Amino acid sequence: MQDQLTALLAKAAAELPAIASRPDFESAKARYVGPNGELTALMKQMGTVPKEQRPAVGKLINEAKGRLQAQLDAALARIADAELAAQLGPPVDASLPATDAGPGTRHPLTQVREEMCRILRKVGFAVADGPEVESEYYCFDALNTPIDHPARDEKDTFYFPTTARFGNISKKVAGEKYLLRTHTSSVQIRTMLKGPPPIRIVSPGRVYRRDTTDATHSANFHQLECLYVDRNVTVRDLKALLDYIFASLLGPETKTRFRPHYFGYTEPSFEVDLTASHLPKVNKPWIEIGGCGMVDPSVFEAVGYDPEIWTGYAFGMGLERLAMLLYGIDDIRYFYQNDLRFLKQFA
Ligand code: DAH
Repeated sequence: MQDQLTALLAKAAAELPAIASRPDFESAKARYVGPNGELTALMKQMGTVPKEQRPAVGKLINEAKGRLQAQLDAALARIADAELAAQLGPPVDASLPATDAGPGTRHPLTQVREEMCRILRKVGFAVADGPEVESEYYCFDALNTPIDHPARDEKDTFYFPTTARFGNISKKVAGEKYLLRTHTSSVQIRTMLKGPPPIRIVSPGRVYRRDTTDATHSANFHQLECLYVDRNVTVRDLKALLDYIFASLLGPETKTRFRPHYFGYTEPSFEVDLTASHLPKVNKPWIEIGGCGMVDPSVFEAVGYDPEIWTGYAFGMGLERLAMLLYGIDDIRYFYQNDLRFLKQFA
């Protein structure tokens, strides 16, 4: 009996470590310890063992059974480990750097905004900020925008429900309507109300209009506003500043021209075009880039500046338009999609 048990264990020790699948394991297990298994058959022989030898033989069989079970357990654990490893796939070292871990880049709009602010800071302009949720007062009234001006239309401007309260952001509170600012010109008013001239600010920021999105429109986009207030400011100063900033940003060959226009907050008012035929994907000789003019005396009166003493200029332009020109981007929607194939081009 002892020899038989030893032989059985040796056979199992040779066979079980080579088993790789659960079905093979189950059939091997049945062959050893199943109802018709080899160990089971040996155990059944106990009946034929003389009575006095039974305790010793029983001990031998129990030991053999224990060892065989340990071998089976080890084989099953090994198979389960292999199954789990197969499910997990190749080993991963979570401490390794990611394959696509290049440094991030600044968004092209951020780059153009920062560059414009840098160019303007060089000539004394300070960056000013204002809220995107505005009241009609700052966005329209104080900017001398007539009550029936199309820019105020509900079709063009996002108004908040009149019952809503948005904190103490407004000069006039009672009956005031709130809106998402349609232009950064509201910051002109906020800045002038804060203190006396001289003033020299640049204010980049997000603006909102009820536009249907297409290649050149977006319901929210970005503008950059400038305001200069001092004594004896002239259109010539305005033209010189615009020449300087566009030549700095787009190259010295860039020229600007003014076309007469109407804005309530400037008089005279102009639209600004620039030559950009040296830039990528531009096939027109002149491109419209923004609006400007000399601050209207009624705006000075609204903020308590004496228009007999103070003069100034203001201008505003779209940052997307500028970035599109600079980089040859032909669809405004690329700016907002966060597609890395696009963003990576502005490293
Ligand atoms: N606010 C105008 C717009 O959104 C742009 C503009 C025109 C700004 C003339 C100015 C200005 O400061 O003087 O279209």
